[in-house]
Amino acid sequence: MKIIAIANQKGGVGKTTTAINLSACLANAGARVLLLDLDPQGNASSGLGHRASEGQSLYRVLIGQDTLASKIQQTRFPNLSIIPAQMELAGCEVELVRSENHLIRLREVLTPLKETGRFDFLLIDCPPSLGILMTSALAAADGLLIPIQCEYFGLEGLARIVDIHDQIATSGINPSVTLEGILMTMYDGRTGHCRAVVEEVRRAFTDLVYPVCIPRSIAVAESQSFEKALVEYDPNGKAAVAYRQAAEAFLTHNLLPTPLPGTRTP
Ligand SMILES: Nc1ncnc2c1ncn2[C@@H]1O[C@H](COP(=O)(O)OP(=O)(O)O)[C@@H](O)[C@H]1O
Ligand SMILES: [Mg+2]
Repeated sequence: MKIIAIANQKGGVGKTTTAINLSACLANAGARVLLLDLDPQGNASSGLGHRASEGQSLYRVLIGQDTLASKIQQTRFPNLSIIPAQMELAGCEVELVRSENHLIRLREVLTPLKETGRFDFLLIDCPPSLGILMTSALAAADGLLIPIQCEYFGLEGLARIVDIHDQIATSGINPSVTLEGILMTMYDGRTGHCRAVVEEVRRAFTDLVYPVCIPRSIAVAESQSFEKALVEYDPNGKAAVAYRQAAEAFLTHNLLPTPLPGTRTP
């Protein structure tokens, strides 16, 4: 099981949208995926129709009061499970700091699951602020997937998250974490501005940038209001197609043949 943190300390860049739709596309392609919603707002959970009540998030597991297995829920997608988020997760910022080694607590909790071989990928939807939750996700991750909005102000966020990655890797918290990729979101090809930002990011990060940009599409907000992934709500729309391509690139990069046998759409 490879753990990928979808992170950027900037809010509104498409982390949650990517978590929902990349998970759904990977699952549709046959990969066994667990989506861990680590943002107390719970938008990735509600986006897939899994609003959690108190006690259903990872919070109690992180403070040592419950088992990880009891938090895993099956989604409508045969290959996609979810651990939903709930506001209680925000309590980690206060509770966890009291315990020793709190930054590697999440990694410790996930290790037994990693060893079972039940999932191919664990995707973590990170909260935007660089608190305990996001740092724990970076400490537990094998790879970091960074969505960036195709805007000039998106570039500042990128520089910052790359610094954070370097710090996590060099401080000894998680020396092996890699940059899995950079996914450009909310792309509008009609504006030269958007194209210029993508060019600049590609110049700086070359192969790390996903070949496909996720276009800006009204279907994204609509699908979320219906609590559906794009592949369910608007499977042939441009954003769904782009997320499917991103999932293919992800699988190729992670050396899994695509598509896998036995795939089906819910
Ligand atoms: N490709 C897109 N096209 C149009 N709107 C988008 C797209 N991606 C995200 N959004 C919208 O932008 C807002 C922020 O996206 P979200 O995924 O929640 O970002 P984050 O998790 O980084 O805060 C949401 O309202 C979402 O519906
Ligand atoms: Mg989010």
